[in-house]
Amino acid sequence: MTNEQDLENPKYHFNVVKWFSISAVIYLIVGALVGVFIAAELAYPLLNSLGMPYTGFGRLRPLHTNAVIFAFGGSTLMATAFYIVQRTCHVPLWSNKLAWFTFWGWTAIIVAAVISFPMGWTQGKEYAELEWPVDIAIAVVWLSYFFNFVMTLANRKTSHIYVANWFFLGMMVMITLLHVVNSLAIPISWHKSYSIFSGVHDAMIQWWWGHNAVGFFLTAGFLGIMYYFVPKQANLPVYSYRLSVIHFWSLMFGYVWLGAHHLQYTALPNWAGSLGAAVSIAMIIPSWGGAVNGLMTLSGAWHKLRDDYVLRFLIVSLAFYAMSTFEGPIMSVKNVNALSHYTDWTIGHVHSGALGWVAMVSIGAIYHMVTRLWDREIYSVKLVNTHFWLHTIGIILYIAAMWVSGIMQGLMWRATDEYGNLVYTFIESVAAMHPYYTIRMIGGLFVLAGASVMIYNIIMTIRHGKTLAPAMKKA
Ligand code: HEM
Ligand code: HEM
Repeated sequence: MTNEQDLENPKYHFNVVKWFSISAVIYLIVGALVGVFIAAELAYPLLNSLGMPYTGFGRLRPLHTNAVIFAFGGSTLMATAFYIVQRTCHVPLWSNKLAWFTFWGWTAIIVAAVISFPMGWTQGKEYAELEWPVDIAIAVVWLSYFFNFVMTLANRKTSHIYVANWFFLGMMVMITLLHVVNSLAIPISWHKSYSIFSGVHDAMIQWWWGHNAVGFFLTAGFLGIMYYFVPKQANLPVYSYRLSVIHFWSLMFGYVWLGAHHLQYTALPNWAGSLGAAVSIAMIIPSWGGAVNGLMTLSGAWHKLRDDYVLRFLIVSLAFYAMSTFEGPIMSVKNVNALSHYTDWTIGHVHSGALGWVAMVSIGAIYHMVTRLWDREIYSVKLVNTHFWLHTIGIILYIAAMWVSGIMQGLMWRATDEYGNLVYTFIESVAAMHPYYTIRMIGGLFVLAGASVMIYNIIMTIRHGKTLAPAMKKA
């Protein structure tokens, strides 16, 4: 990754990267805002009845998940993939026009989501709620992103393809396949359709997609980000290139087998659940291999963490990656899942992965890119530090509250007296959750405050930041 062309080289297409990066931060704020609101609805249920159907929990929850995963996560993936592929291949994007098509297409899809979820138009499949016309649009826009990326790789001036690009490619191939198969449906009107799969097949296909939305969209792509930005920000080579290649192939082959762990104790054959659990456990090895590879990149240079707050975001994200990829396999074991399934433990796991891993690695990457894209030093390093602590405290409040409430729920639901009668009614378990739901909401407010500090700092960087030192421009 040395001898890169100067970033000022006019041949690079960075405007589209700038737009995707700023959009990502705006979507993080919107997604967190909706997250805080639905968290408040769970803590204070009266908020569900504001006199209109559009703002109820059921309609806003998919708006939250889609805003954070596909709007924030998707825009980050598009910004970083287009940035990394140009810088590591030493060529501009194959087509600038096609990249703008991807940007506006993705924006239109997000607008469609913002309209359709409050209206209650949904396929009812988690992380695949959007109705069929939007699904077709997603496939087209996604393929435009994929095609441009592949053609840029094909035009590269370097002899090899840097490993970060492999992770992006793996994600693009798998998400195309998963999205198309899981979205196959028969339309009955322009905003209603029925899946071509039914019963247990529908469930299996849905969770084959569902887990791989996690494995490929929320993990493989973000690992691509990690493999580029951790070495770049630390100004050190990646710890082991060989380990990164093993990490890549084992992740690609392993993840596709895991979906059944979402369907333990259902009509799915028992062996399928056991297979899902067995492969889930095996996935600890490549996941930790990847996390260690990122962390060890800093070996001998840990002092950099003392004052490089962007690097702190990137490194702490890896600690959360390791934590959630240890917790997930444990939860896939049937005995543990019998307790954790349907409880807030799952929500805690989701957000340690989502807020800890995905959001932190993205935030680190965006701070890094902003300085290079606009050729500015960060306006306020202190504010990056403030953001780091607001975000970290927010996550800790969120996930600790969910672990306690989740395990409590599981234990309350299964508690029986000496005659075999349930000790608690369901509503008693709901009432017991109230303090934890309030703590989660406060945690969300911390995250939201952090994201607001970030957008302010970025705007000030673009407007008033000092010009970047020449040596930094190439780094
Ligand atoms: C090796 C890695 C991982 C394994 C084996 C794993 C396993 C699991 C298991 C067993 C569940 C609970 C299923 C249920 O009871 O319904 C779950 C839920 C979930 N996990 Fe993970 N996990 C892993 C990593 C991650 C990461 C890194 C993220 C986020 C970036 C994540 C996001 C999610 C989400 C969003 C759900 C909730 C799905 C739903 O029910 O809607 N997981 N995971
Ligand atoms: C301010 C920050 C956030 C807050 C307050 C928040 C809050 C919530 C709430 C209240 C739920 C519904 C839980 C339930 O149904 O019991 C939820 C679900 C979810 N959130 Fe967040 N969230 C935040 C950030 C994020 C981010 C950044 C991501 C992803 C990058 C994310 C991904 C998800 C997912 C995947 C689910 C569905 C989990 C499942 O079905 O198991 N959230 N969130």
